[in-house]
Amino acid sequence: MQTKIEKISPLSALAVNIIEEVPDSMVDFLSFREKLSYANISRVEKRVEWICARLAIKKALDCISLPYPGFFKDENGKSHPMDGYGYVSLSHTKGIAAAIFHKDMPVGVDLDYIREKVVRLGPKFLDKTEMDFLGNNPELYTTAWSAKESIFKCQGKRGVSLKNNIMLEPFSLEDKVIKGKIYGTEFSDHHYRVKVEKENDIIMTYTVW
Ligand SMILES: CC(C)(COP(=O)(O)OP(=O)(O)OC[C@H]1O[C@@H](n2cnc3c(N)ncnc32)[C@H](O)[C@@H]1OP(=O)(O)O)[C@@H](O)C(=O)NCCC(=O)NCCS
Repeated sequence: MQTKIEKISPLSALAVNIIEEVPDSMVDFLSFREKLSYANISRVEKRVEWICARLAIKKALDCISLPYPGFFKDENGKSHPMDGYGYVSLSHTKGIAAAIFHKDMPVGVDLDYIREKVVRLGPKFLDKTEMDFLGNNPELYTTAWSAKESIFKCQGKRGVSLKNNIMLEPFSLEDKVIKGKIYGTEFSDHHYRVKVEKENDIIMTYTVW
């Protein structure tokens, strides 16, 4: 499997896997509960995405010399290490999966294909001031969507709205970092710096709390 690994700091790493079939011998590292979840995914494509995301976590952990603890999902769908140490975020889509791990801080990662239709969806996830600076460029819209998803995943609570509670500062296609904030929730406001990477028609964003 082709993997790109980025050591973000001694406490954090990101891994991106190109998705391909995974032989059964490669799933031994999963916890018992994870093996059950894996076995229960009926659609083959989804199963492969799921396992490639977990292999990405394993590679990120290997990179900072930490063992794979197994992960469970909370009531919001966010994964947490079973040993209680550290934070993880996952994203997987057709052909590609990514995971980020940090030992001390919440993290969020998201992968998206650049698509024309995201411009039409703008009013559902963007404030008017954001649409003003995005114009109608699909790559900018996909980047905005992905950045908001990374921020959403970093905080992890279902009730937070991409449109009403996450605001991005103006950015352009050249920017490698986007600033954004969560506001107007029952939790305290928080400011984020979201890293942006582009490869062919895929945008990847990630953020550390
Ligand atoms: C949950 C959500 C973040 C998943 O994103 P996605 O683009 O569909 O899928 P991705 O592959 O990028 O991410 C999937 C991973 O997100 C993680 N995830 C799910 N819920 C999460 C949460 N509340 N917090 C953090 N991570 C979460 C899971 O690890 C999941 O992978 P898994 O099922 O293999 O464990 C997304 O569906 C969502 O709810 N977004 C925000 C809500 C919203 O406002 N949407 C509509 C606006 S128009």
